[in-house]
Amino acid sequence: MTATYTPRDWNSQPPLVFPAYRSTIRRGPSRPLVPIPPSLSELTGPVYGHESVGDLDHDLTRNAIRNGEPLGERILVTGRVLGDDGRPVPDTLIEIWQANAAGRYIHVADQHDAPLDPNFLGAGRCVTDAEGRYRFYSIKPGAYPWRNHPNAWRPNHIHFSLFGSSFATRLVTQMYFPGDPLLELDPIYQGAPEGARERMIARFSIDVTEPEFALGYVFDIVLRGRVATPMET
Ligand SMILES: [Fe+2]
Repeated sequence: MTATYTPRDWNSQPPLVFPAYRSTIRRGPSRPLVPIPPSLSELTGPVYGHESVGDLDHDLTRNAIRNGEPLGERILVTGRVLGDDGRPVPDTLIEIWQANAAGRYIHVADQHDAPLDPNFLGAGRCVTDAEGRYRFYSIKPGAYPWRNHPNAWRPNHIHFSLFGSSFATRLVTQMYFPGDPLLELDPIYQGAPEGARERMIARFSIDVTEPEFALGYVFDIVLRGRVATPMET
């Protein structure tokens, strides 16, 4: 089945070149974008089934255990994926990746002098249910330094990648935590327009919090339209 989409609302999105976020200067396009009408392949795919996702893929506290439990503050992140008409987007794949509690990724490019956790991979995925809901268990990611400018630190964040109902609604973004003092200093977060960037901050919820187990956060993601969740630059 094909679908039509309203164009992206660029007022919700960061500029493609945001000089305070240094790497955008070299990678951002310097000339106007050329609109390409979506073809059938962008409007119909990809299609994923629940059967392609494993039972533990959504649980980063358990999906990489080798000799014990991962260290850090356990969290539960849940919410809904919505289309530009406000309707839930069911059966869509969500992938996340993040640093461990010490602010370190398992990646050759990450040479931050902080410990790796042998029981934490920092990657997971799930598929939304019929109401567009998703649910991840994880460990609260630590802040980490990067070399954008002197003494630059990324706020605690989780990377999200979503396909929506087709390639045309693909969204790659980051989820932040409320009250983080690094947000006002972070050029990636600040790159999104005021009034839109706040949509990337999850809400703490005592109702979602699981007693004796994990703090709960709610993060709804809107793929298109006036209240779309900003992409990362
Ligand atoms: Fe990151």
